[in-house]
Amino acid sequence: MLGSHFSALWIIVANSWMQTPAGFHIVDTPTGPRAEVVDFWAVVFNPSTMDRLSHTIMGAWQAGAWLVLSVGAYYLLKNKHLDFAKASMKIGFVLAIIASLVQLSTGHSSAETVAETQPAKLAAFEGQWETTANAPLSLIGWVNEAEETTSSLAIPGMLSWLVAGDTEHVVTGLNDIPADERPPVNTVFQLYHLMVVIGMALIALSVGGGVLSWTGHLFKMRWLLWIMALAVVLPQIGNQIGWAAAEIGRQPWIVYGLMKTVDAISPTVGAAEVITSLILFTVVYLGLFVMFFALLDKKIKDGPGLVKLSVYRDKGGTR
Ligand code: HEM
Repeated sequence: MLGSHFSALWIIVANSWMQTPAGFHIVDTPTGPRAEVVDFWAVVFNPSTMDRLSHTIMGAWQAGAWLVLSVGAYYLLKNKHLDFAKASMKIGFVLAIIASLVQLSTGHSSAETVAETQPAKLAAFEGQWETTANAPLSLIGWVNEAEETTSSLAIPGMLSWLVAGDTEHVVTGLNDIPADERPPVNTVFQLYHLMVVIGMALIALSVGGGVLSWTGHLFKMRWLLWIMALAVVLPQIGNQIGWAAAEIGRQPWIVYGLMKTVDAISPTVGAAEVITSLILFTVVYLGLFVMFFALLDKKIKDGPGLVKLSVYRDKGGTR
């Protein structure tokens, strides 16, 4: 368990370094230039590590909180384990509210870091073509990459203000980034905006649901309980598309500004080997997913057995 947390931490550090490289120098070797560490702590705490770590941990907290809330809502809808469901939902809401609000703050901090360190990614997140002060924040929209335009519902000046606290701040637009150094703009725009919409929906559901749960109203609102039960997928989708926005948004770079993805293809590993390992990984992970899902389903249907036992004992039962 601890080992897997450490592995996750190192993956975040390694990936952050590839997004915002620091603490290294380039040396020439017979096989070509190579990055060597000159400052270990600068590598570990590169400009995006802490943003990425805190944002990802909050994403995991949200996933956990919404699993508890979803199972609780399901029990209430099925009229089963009612006391257990109400008690666990109240705790679930505390965690969901904290995590969703902190997620907004870590997301904001990530956006500030992206603005500083990966201007092409920020411009793609917002479909911003012109380099300009008073840059708008798009709420919803569509990017036409062929015509280099974005049609969106936008708040003027809000992007400049959000990334620098000043509407006069100049945001670099995609027109000032060479065409072969831009990510697929519309894909990144849509993924990023869907993540933010999910973030806002989770804040509304956590805060609204929490208040209704503490006042006792939620447990009689079946339509809202259905939404709570189904909302378990939102943090899962948020985590996947957030990650996709961050990774597709840094393209065409594998190490931002230093090495392109196309140059990172190994000359010794063939296409057949890559596709074979990809298929094998997919099969193994699909198998694990199906097993996880079946076990989770069984656990949820079995209900809180240990709690029932302890209540039975408290009532004087002997087994
Ligand atoms: C509340 C509004 C949100 C904002 C403003 C926001 C902002 C951001 C930004 C700017 C990035 C890109 C970071 C980078 O490329 O360096 C990002 C990535 C990400 N976001 Fe969000 N986000 C929000 C909500 C969420 C939610 C609700 C989830 C999941 C439950 C989520 C999960 C992620 C993940 C997994 C990444 C990738 C992190 C990585 O690169 O390791 N975000 N987010």
